[in-house]
Amino acid sequence: MTTITPVETDASEGERGDYEEVTVPVLVIGAGAAGARAAIALADHGIESLVIGKRDHGDAHTVWAAGGINAALGSLDPEDDWAIHAADTIDEGHHLNDPTAVETVTRAMPDRIRELDEWGTEFARTPDGEIDQRYFGAQSFRRTCFVGDRTGEAMLDTLVGRAQELEIPYRENVMVTKLLSDGDRVYGAAGYDMEDGQAILFRASHVVLAAGGFSALWSRHSSREDENTGDGPALALEAGANLLDVEFVQFHPTGMVADDEWDDDWNGRLVTEAVRGEGGRLYNANGDRFMERYSPDQMELDARDVVARAIQAEVDAGRGTDNGGVYLDISHRDRSFLQERLPRMYERFQSLGVDLAAEPVEIAPTAHYTMGGVDVDFRTGETNVDRLYAVGETTAGVHGANRLGGNSLAETVALGKIVGDHVATEYAPRRVDRLPERVRATAEREFDRLAALAAADGDEDPRALIEELGELLWEYAGIRRDGPSLADGRAALADLRERARHVGVVGDRTGRPFEFAVDLGFMLTLADAVLGAAARRTESRGAHYRTDYPEVDSDWRRNVLVSLDGDDLRLSTRTPGTPSERVQRALDEGYELDYHHLE
Ligand code: FUM
Repeated sequence: MTTITPVETDASEGERGDYEEVTVPVLVIGAGAAGARAAIALADHGIESLVIGKRDHGDAHTVWAAGGINAALGSLDPEDDWAIHAADTIDEGHHLNDPTAVETVTRAMPDRIRELDEWGTEFARTPDGEIDQRYFGAQSFRRTCFVGDRTGEAMLDTLVGRAQELEIPYRENVMVTKLLSDGDRVYGAAGYDMEDGQAILFRASHVVLAAGGFSALWSRHSSREDENTGDGPALALEAGANLLDVEFVQFHPTGMVADDEWDDDWNGRLVTEAVRGEGGRLYNANGDRFMERYSPDQMELDARDVVARAIQAEVDAGRGTDNGGVYLDISHRDRSFLQERLPRMYERFQSLGVDLAAEPVEIAPTAHYTMGGVDVDFRTGETNVDRLYAVGETTAGVHGANRLGGNSLAETVALGKIVGDHVATEYAPRRVDRLPERVRATAEREFDRLAALAAADGDEDPRALIEELGELLWEYAGIRRDGPSLADGRAALADLRERARHVGVVGDRTGRPFEFAVDLGFMLTLADAVLGAAARRTESRGAHYRTDYPEVDSDWRRNVLVSLDGDDLRLSTRTPGTPSERVQRALDEGYELDYHHLE
């Protein structure tokens, strides 16, 4: 094990002296599982990194990942292997996935799970002491390893503990607002300290973006408050990287529907897929188990896009609840079973006055995950900007048009290690280059922009604009879209963007209104990209469902790329690669979950 020394922090080298300057070999932006795993790999090679995050150490979005992490261990179904895991991922991604990405992740996963186990993650065990695995949607075998229904939190505790053992420095309460790039190469990042408002210039040889996705753009979502606001993809796009597949946003079928007596904050929060994996059933308001009509073989465990659309169809047909949801019922399971396998869900609903062992809960789809993101080479994690890497939900490629539950946590650790290993081999000279003057000038312009934003005294409230943007995307680019709705969405977005020029920021850079104003900038960029890419894709595939083009179009087995041309977005398309022979064989075998042997 290698121990590394803390990074160097200088007084400003610039002439202005009004910002802090931090020099570090590798800057990791984002402190969830993906960022932590990349930093651990770097430390294992003796390379210093600084991990920065908007919140306290160990307090990242990963803690809300609930039901599990996929790896073809074959603990209960020995016929499972990584190639079948890859085939399931590609099938449910509707063949838009990057096969290299899929194979890289699925091959690596058994080792990543054994490693987490060794480092202390307390995975559930079978009576024989093997790592237990549960069913998750649209997977041919029991493949999802879990720690009750708090798998993400348990994993992150392990990774943060490991990072602390390795003395990897962490700086909390830092928001990055711009990557320092000349379009070809990245040199670091500019941002500020959210606690004291100090502007900071990070100078780095390599930058790893691990800053999450953008599902919080939709008004009803399962993300933590004010997170998953698109920082990672927006920063990368602006730095010259390409985005891919941003039209694909996953609507998880089972988000909470807040009861009149509950705090509204519960609205959209996740009811883990593990509830259905452990036997939970869906009923409409008439008591009809409607998945029998939509998916008689895979039932409630069909892919998320299928189940979410089925729920929506029931609601639209007038068979939903008054709140626009349906019911999820697992009360046929024993109380002790629920307490053991779904402890967090059980306790949460108990505290809200709902007894999962005795009654159903009301649920409705919620925006949960963005399959699209930064385009990277999955052999290394590098973007098309030299020395800029991305990992985790910030990226695109593994999941194609629809993600399998349990594959997001898998991607964080699988690619995290690859990125860390790769950057370590690249980072030969242990020094950070001098910052070119034009790049320093970019940073200083960014600090001026932040100062002006903090002093903005317009009459538009940034928080209110974020809420309007959420409604806009839910209405115009939600579970179902069509050409006119997307065009209306773009017109409404142009209006919102104009109003965003007149925000008022009460307080200084340490206040929430300032953070919201910065978030709003990222969110507007992503919303524009989503509406543009969704309008461009004239077919339905996975999570992108267009009522005016309701079928898959084989000519559209293409990825949509988004890049920046000056201030304008440019869209182009690219055909995904083909799977290896081994994975193709697994695809040809046509493995599929048979729900009914679970009953
Ligand atoms: O439902 C869930 O527990 C979510 C898991 C995932 O999105 O991978």
